[in-house]
Amino acid sequence: MARWIRTSGGARFALTLLWVVAASATACAEETAVSSASARAGEDVAAPATARAEEDVATSLRFARHGEPVATLPLVDLRQAFVAETLTVHEPYEDREVAFRALPLAAVLDRVFTPSWREEEELLFTCRDGYQPTIPVQRALDHDAWIAFARPGANFTIDKLESGRRQQVSLAPFYLVWENLEDDVVRAEGDYGWPYQLVGIDLVRAGDRFPKMTPPASAPPLAHEGYTAFRMYCTRCHPVNGEGGSIGPELNAPGREVGVRDEAWLRRWIDDPSQFAPNARMPALDRGLPDRAQTLDALIAYLRAMAGTNATTDPRTEDAKGQARTPHGG
Ligand code: HEC
Repeated sequence: MARWIRTSGGARFALTLLWVVAASATACAEETAVSSASARAGEDVAAPATARAEEDVATSLRFARHGEPVATLPLVDLRQAFVAETLTVHEPYEDREVAFRALPLAAVLDRVFTPSWREEEELLFTCRDGYQPTIPVQRALDHDAWIAFARPGANFTIDKLESGRRQQVSLAPFYLVWENLEDDVVRAEGDYGWPYQLVGIDLVRAGDRFPKMTPPASAPPLAHEGYTAFRMYCTRCHPVNGEGGSIGPELNAPGREVGVRDEAWLRRWIDDPSQFAPNARMPALDRGLPDRAQTLDALIAYLRAMAGTNATTDPRTEDAKGQARTPHGG
């Protein structure tokens, strides 16, 4: 547990203090308030300790590596350790430019995990409602992500289409946003990688965390490529062999394996389900995707490769597990 307190050389004193605060936070949520309150001794500590405790827990971000907790940092401490900026992005749900107060993701991860996070496979984001999207670490290296915590001059909410009507959805405590005014690739990927009500960031290896969803090593290279695409565009809603989201149906249930279906149908379905079902809840594969045709081939190769791997999946258990959830960003 003390491992991460040894930060790489050159850590300033204030930072060391932050780590100590974080250490007690992972040990016990109630201690967090006490330690951070004392770390904030310069401030007017008018609020009673219990109110602080609740506030700190409600606005904390948890960090873990391969399932091991690394730190829990309240917003107030994050703001002390990093310089917040006001950043304007094209907000994908409101579909217009919106400004946020935000901290740079890469800098926060460098400090929490040391730069070794850059060698990891995936970032798993946990949201308050249990929604857990992942993105490849490479995406966070190639593009500019920010941890937003406020919207200047407005409530920290977005106006989002949910169940057919526009609603004010709370983003707190954190919302992952991307620079997409200059970055056309991120812009083309719409709401992919924008989890809100964010409470945790884990470094994960897909093979460890989703062993049953991972194609066998013997599968063709195109299937492995398809798996990467599947992790990006599909797992947030669909389970395969019981692993993944629960908004869409299991795609590899015995006797109902999607991978053995008619290829032309499968391709058209993934391309745009509304061709078959005007009210399909499943979205079309993003139109702006570079190499979209190749991505479709790869997704189909992945589903085919998985079709022989479902011996242990019992569709009844999967149906019992599937609980209705509102499709959520990311
Ligand atoms: C936002 C959630 C969501 C995403 C993202 C999503 N799906 Fe779906 N998918 C669904 C739902 C819900 C259904 C059930 C039909 C419907 O209501 O649209 C479905 C149905 C399907 C079916 C038909 C299953 C059957 O048994 O007939 C296939 C195949 C499928 N999805 C593949 C994919 C693939 C491949 C991706 C990634 C490119 C994907 N889906 C992304 C929600 C999603």
